[in-house]
Amino acid sequence: MILATTVNDVKEQVKVWRALGLSVGLVPTMGYLHEGHQSLIKRAVEENDRVVVSVFVNPIQFAPNEDLESYPRDLDADCRLCQETGAAMVFHPEPSEMYAEDFTTFVDMTGVTKELCGKSRPTHFRGVCTVVNKLFNIVTPDRAYFGQKDAQQLAVIRRMVRDLNMNLEIVGCPIIREADGLAKSSRNTYLSDEERKAALVLSKAIFAGEKLIKDGEQDGEKVLAAMREIIEAEPLARIDYVEMVKWDSIEIYHRADVPVLVAIAVYIGKTRLIDNFIAE
Ligand code: PAJ
Repeated sequence: MILATTVNDVKEQVKVWRALGLSVGLVPTMGYLHEGHQSLIKRAVEENDRVVVSVFVNPIQFAPNEDLESYPRDLDADCRLCQETGAAMVFHPEPSEMYAEDFTTFVDMTGVTKELCGKSRPTHFRGVCTVVNKLFNIVTPDRAYFGQKDAQQLAVIRRMVRDLNMNLEIVGCPIIREADGLAKSSRNTYLSDEERKAALVLSKAIFAGEKLIKDGEQDGEKVLAAMREIIEAEPLARIDYVEMVKWDSIEIYHRADVPVLVAIAVYIGKTRLIDNFIAE
């Protein structure tokens, strides 16, 4: 497996693969890889001749008060996981390789980013869209893989690719969970033992909401109220949002009669965790 740190090295290698007629898949990540990321890499390896995993903690998607500095990093472990899973290349650039000092061009969206995480993190998706666009231009993949764990991000990327006529397919992959239900996340490492237990209210609320809709409840207010009640029973939990939106446009919509995304963001102590389900 190749470890590339410059844009040029990636482009040269992709040129070689293209000359051989090989297809290329891309899995963008911020590293500290776990089985959630690995499921994306596995799927990409199944569907493409060569797979590139980018490992880059993208500074421009973090607000000044967020966890850019403390975000967990372990490149050696990430490379091992990528190699074991069949990736052909890890792309790990320094921030200065991705952003020149006079970098001034951003990809911004006016819809899809307004609610949910876009509301509490107003500059986040601009940073995500910009870096993902750059990665697409550098790697020129046939397919790129994103987890439903970050459901709004998946909807945002799909819309960007459609609106800007980008020449690749976006593949969405299901949420991978711990045995007790907690969605796997690099940020779970921030949790103390007590917080780790408390964090189970997220998946509990998600499973309860999902069951209510499955059993026929269409009233979004009722579903969201039941979910809020579960979370509010946990003293260490503080709700950022508990919302129901249309799955494609991420507009607030409180009836489960079209495909809806039910998404939550909850602080457990200082750690902000997200989870969701889609009812179609
Ligand atoms: P990161 O949080 O590292 O996630 C990389 C990819 O892994 C995302 O598509 C995310 O949805 C997926 N993923 C994370 N946990 C998952 C889980 N438990 N089950 C399934 N998929 C999971 O998302 C980002 O990085 C960044 O915003 C990025 C797209 C790389 C842009 O910087």
